[in-house]
Amino acid sequence: MESTYLNCLALFGVGGAHPGGLNLTKRILSKEKIDGSSKILDVGCGTGQTSAYIAKEYGSHVTALDNNKIMLEKAGRRFQSMNLPIEIRHGSAENLPFENHTFDFILSESVTAFTDVSKTVPEFKRVLKPNGVLLAVEMVRDKDISGQQMKEILDFYGVKQLLSEQEWRSAFQKAGFEQIEMEKVELQPDIQQVGVSNDYSLSKQIHPSFYEIFEKHHHLSIVYKDILACGKFRCTV
Ligand SMILES: C[S@@+](CC[C@H](N)C(=O)[O-])C[C@H]1O[C@@H](n2cnc3c(N)ncnc32)[C@H](O)[C@@H]1O
Repeated sequence: MESTYLNCLALFGVGGAHPGGLNLTKRILSKEKIDGSSKILDVGCGTGQTSAYIAKEYGSHVTALDNNKIMLEKAGRRFQSMNLPIEIRHGSAENLPFENHTFDFILSESVTAFTDVSKTVPEFKRVLKPNGVLLAVEMVRDKDISGQQMKEILDFYGVKQLLSEQEWRSAFQKAGFEQIEMEKVELQPDIQQVGVSNDYSLSKQIHPSFYEIFEKHHHLSIVYKDILACGKFRCTV
C-alpha cells in the first residue's frame, strides 16, 4: 500500500477526520431542515462517523460513499454494530454513481479538496435535487504562498489544488450554485482532527512509515497554521 496521507487515515481509522470534528458537524446539521424523509449523501464518508450520527439522530436515508475500501469496511462495521440501515457505496466523488436529482443534502467533510474540484463540484450539483443543499467543510488557502510551500502541501496531502476562498466560490458558481455562504472555522493546530479525534479503528498491521506520516501531518499543521484555514460552505442554487 502506498504511503499516502489518506491511506494513513484509513489504516488508523480516524473518525471525524475533518476540522472541527463531530462537534462542528452537529452544529452545521442543526441549522438545516433534516428529517426522516431527507436523502443525504455523505461523500468521502471515511469510517462513517457522520453518516451514523445522521441516521441515528434524524432517521434520514443516508448513503455513505468513499473510494477507499479500508474506510468503507470500517464504516460498514460501525453501521452494523449500531444496527443502522445506511447504504454503502464504493465510488468516486468525481464520477458519482447516482441518478440526477437524487439527494436533498450532500455533505463533504474534508473531501472535495482531495479531488479534482472541476469534476467533483458539477457532480454534486447534478445529483442534488433542484432545492438541495451542499454542505462542505474544506481546506482553504488563507494567504499567498511560495511555489515551494504550495508543492510541499500538495505533495504531502495528495491534494490536487489548494484553493483560496474566492477560488472555492468560483468553483461552486461555475457548477451552477448561486447562493454561497462561507464561514471560517477556528482551527485546532491539527487541521484534520487527526491527533485530536477520540474515534479510531486501527487496522491490525500498520507499517512504521504510516506513523511517520501521522507525525509529519502534525508538524505541517503547525508550520502552516496561518496559511491553511478551513471554510464551512453552504451552497444552494
Ligand atoms: C480527510 S478524510 C475525511 C473523511 C470523513 N469525511 C470524515 O470527516 O471523517 C477524506 C476522505 O475522502 C475520501 N476520498 C478522497 N478522494 C475521494 C474521491 N475521489 N471519491 C470518494 N472519496 C474520496 C478518502 O478516502 C477519505 O475517506
